[in-house]
Amino acid sequence: VLVVVGGDTNGSSEQALMASVFPAVQNLLLAATALGLGSVLTTLATYRADDVRRIVGFPPHVMPLAVVPIGHPERVLGPPRRAPLAEKVSREHFGVAWTTA
Ligand SMILES: Cc1cc2nc3c(=O)[nH]c(=O)nc-3n(C[C@H](O)[C@H](O)[C@H](O)COP(=O)(O)O)c2cc1C
Repeated sequence: VLVVVGGDTNGSSEQALMASVFPAVQNLLLAATALGLGSVLTTLATYRADDVRRIVGFPPHVMPLAVVPIGHPERVLGPPRRAPLAEKVSREHFGVAWTTA
């Protein structure tokens, strides 16, 4: 299944559109994982917005934001690889490493 995610610009400003939509996309990814399905977030479709609009019939006020393929994985999936939080999180100022001590 390919889930094509659109953001309705009538319901949200363009600046807030992604923040309104991507939490739902994350819930979709989590739900797929909980069901044992594989899924992946892709946003490349935003670069081909006109093609996506034509294929799925989005009107001009609906912006293509993501395509999420979901399917039965060929093998049992392990936990996703993640960089340590300390490499990604700053404390007070960007670039000041977060430490728990
Ligand atoms: C905002 C965002 C956009 C992404 N867009 C694409 C994409 O267009 N194509 C793609 O192959 N992966 C894309 N990725 C990467 C995949 O979603 C995923 O993070 C990557 O395949 C690693 O999988 P894992 O997190 O399950 O380890 C994107 C990730 C994020 C966070």
